[in-house]
Amino acid sequence: MTLLMDTDVIASEPNAHGYAEFTLGEFHFRRDEYFVYVKWPTGSHVMSADAFLRAMQRDVAWNFFYGIVNFDGVVGTVNHYGTVDLFAGRYNDAYRKAEMDHVENFQSENIKATFEGMLADWTNASFDPFASPEETGSAFGDKNGSNLAAVTRRRVASRRMVSCDDDEQLRTDATHPINRMFADVPQDSPSVEPEPGFESEVKAYNLFAYLSRSDVTWNPSVVSVCKDSLYCPTTEEYILPIIHGNDRVEWFVQLSDEIIWAVEDRDTGAARTRVVMKPGDVASMPANIRHQGYAPKRAMLLVWENADGALPELYATGKLPSHPVDF
Ligand code: PHB
Ligand code: FE
Repeated sequence: MTLLMDTDVIASEPNAHGYAEFTLGEFHFRRDEYFVYVKWPTGSHVMSADAFLRAMQRDVAWNFFYGIVNFDGVVGTVNHYGTVDLFAGRYNDAYRKAEMDHVENFQSENIKATFEGMLADWTNASFDPFASPEETGSAFGDKNGSNLAAVTRRRVASRRMVSCDDDEQLRTDATHPINRMFADVPQDSPSVEPEPGFESEVKAYNLFAYLSRSDVTWNPSVVSVCKDSLYCPTTEEYILPIIHGNDRVEWFVQLSDEIIWAVEDRDTGAARTRVVMKPGDVASMPANIRHQGYAPKRAMLLVWENADGALPELYATGKLPSHPVDF
């Protein structure tokens, strides 16, 4: 029997493992103790349940992000900002050649509602998809409770800058204890002496102290906004749960520790390069690749994004080069 959970979410009664199965267009999703199985008219795929939930958590929390969110080398989404493609094998050379690839386009709200339903139903009480593997319990087993507080977390998105009036405020021990791997990060604050009348305009804070208190991994916060320039720092540990194929250039500034980036061709998945970033390194990720990061120890990374809505079209039509500099 099919249950309609929301206007557009098609979910089944619980299967033998206690989990609902979901249908979205011609895609079908089910999970058991260890795996998630995805089916479409010309093929099928399997992913580890923990990796699937970590990827889906990012896709939902980032509202489908910029460009392509690959859950792995086979399934993922493309954001068209209003509608979203759900694909299987579309950015995988072997699936394309075998004609096993499949793409369907959905209204953003509809696919988001289905993904939210899947996340809520498939995340057990012991598992937090945003946490590092060392800081969360197991994703596996038959259905065992839920963790709605974790899967509906709102991400930090400043309107001006963290610490400004009416904006995201600084973190304290009460809500955000210092992470075990950042115990050595100084917690002092800069002193600010604005002219009278400018107290709400002149602000400064210790970004390292702020990041040392992050309780999530691979989840950029917007800490400052200047027109289309967004500073999105984040703390990373283990593996970025998605492979990001951007629709614009983005910049990485390694603030601490080390991240290894695997870079592939955005359309075929062919390996392009590996980039090892150490503190102080700056890299621009071109608009024609996809990347996935590996952080051996919790690391601070500044992701610098350009939110200009005209960019995807300019890159797609070749009016802008896919890389920012010719050497
Ligand atoms: C990225 O795809 O550029 C990205 C996403 C999440 C992060 C870091 C980088 O935490
Ligand atoms: Fe990216």
